[in-house]
Amino acid sequence: METHLFFAFFCAWICLSIPLESCIAVDSIRMDQSISDGETLVSSGQSFELGFFSPGSSKNRYLGIWYKNTTQTVVWVANRNNPIVDSYGVLTIFNNGALVLLNQTKSVI
Ligand SMILES: *[C@@H]1O[C@H](CO)[C@@H](O)[C@H](O)[C@H]1NC(C)=O
Ligand SMILES: *[C@@H]1O[C@H](CO)[C@@H](O)[C@H](O)[C@H]1NC(C)=O
Repeated sequence: METHLFFAFFCAWICLSIPLESCIAVDSIRMDQSISDGETLVSSGQSFELGFFSPGSSKNRYLGIWYKNTTQTVVWVANRNNPIVDSYGVLTIFNNGALVLLNQTKSVI
């Protein structure tokens, strides 16, 4: 009994101490969920990762999908012509089912 309780607390502590994405690898988001800058989605086959990135020395943030191997080659960029200037971008799903990229002031990018 005590061992179980300790184990439960230990798991909770681990989950709270490390970023969510490394605790529970998710490959999809639901209507009530979102992806903030710093969080990523990894495809179930582990080949692709979706998240925010800055190319080269740029400080702009772009939402993209890249190969999740050592090359990390970007294969798709959502906001190539509309960079997010800070790290407050969010990818979410509106009630009407639309997948949207929002900036800090909640404008649809
Ligand atoms: C990364 O993945 C891509 C697509 O599968 C592949 O073309 C490339 O060779 C891979 N690079 C490495 C270093 O594995
Ligand atoms: C968010 O996007 C809108 C529309 O492009 C822009 O007017 C606003 O300044 C942006 N906000 C930030 C914090 O970049």
